[in-house]
Amino acid sequence: MNLDSPFPGDTVTTSAAARVLRGVEELRAALGPARREGRTIGLVPTMGFLHEGHVSLLRAARAECDVVVMSLFVNPTQFGPNEDLDSYPRDEERDLRLAGEAGVDFVFAPVVEELYPDGFAAAVEVTGGLTSVLDGDPARRGPGHFRGVTTVVAKLFNIVGPDVAYFGQKDAQQAAVIKRMVRDLDFPVRIEVMPTVREEDGLAMSSRNVYLEPADRARAVALSHALAAAEQQALARDSLDAGLAAARIELAAAAIEPEYLEARDAETLEPVEGLAGRPILVAVAAQVGGARLIDNVVIEPLAG
Ligand code: PAJ
Repeated sequence: MNLDSPFPGDTVTTSAAARVLRGVEELRAALGPARREGRTIGLVPTMGFLHEGHVSLLRAARAECDVVVMSLFVNPTQFGPNEDLDSYPRDEERDLRLAGEAGVDFVFAPVVEELYPDGFAAAVEVTGGLTSVLDGDPARRGPGHFRGVTTVVAKLFNIVGPDVAYFGQKDAQQAAVIKRMVRDLDFPVRIEVMPTVREEDGLAMSSRNVYLEPADRARAVALSHALAAAEQQALARDSLDAGLAAARIELAAAAIEPEYLEARDAETLEPVEGLAGRPILVAVAAQVGGARLIDNVVIEPLAG
């Protein structure tokens, strides 16, 4: 952060300082000068408990934008009644330190009532196939999960007014849904989707990985192995079915019964028959011990 020192020529060590703002009006006021000067604003929405995946988004924003805003808000409307809202891991002090180290200028960390005041009754929803399949299947998290996500992200876009907003490929369906919301509702923001950051053994980083007991942590790596096998076999044998079969074998070997393991068009999430010249998302979700984990790979079309 570029703080003006009261003493010209003074070196101010500010790498670990991000300004924390709790109120919508306070944040708008803080961003006013940058906006008037035409500086670019980057937004990284998070629910906190930061890991390297989040930090990769912060770094991308820092590299590309003049001003970086991170939101830190565990959004209740995207949690189902039987989900982990109350136990969702939180560590604001550590998050603020990591945000500062990544060069974040402003952390927007409102309380629930600031974003959802009494009588709150609005929602932003992407309907149809993007939100009714995979995690949006009513038997799983359901479309209400994505309604919660799009509602809070639309609010954050209105509050921050970012030029660019950064999301992770780890949550591929969420990224596809947000891109569609932005396109369909003409939000003046560019969406950047950054690659999934993984642990050394391949497990996709997630705030929820803290729920894993050691034995389950060891099994959990099967998700990424399954996806790697799916990609490798699908391409080697020019067959999606062969890829999915290989993935199922990897999961079964780790005694993991997937909630879903599906191949879909990476943009529309429509079902696909084969490797037909478009990027294909292979997505998996599974309960592993105490954690519900998701992961995915995109199989790019073969050249030629
Ligand atoms: P959260 O789970 O905190 O994730 C914040 C952002 O970090 C999301 O865009 C997510 O895709 C990205 N991310 C998570 N794990 C990642 C990994 N291993 N590699 C790369 N990026 C990763 O997603 C949410 O919060 C919420 O739904 C939110 C968008 C903030 C709305 O409430």
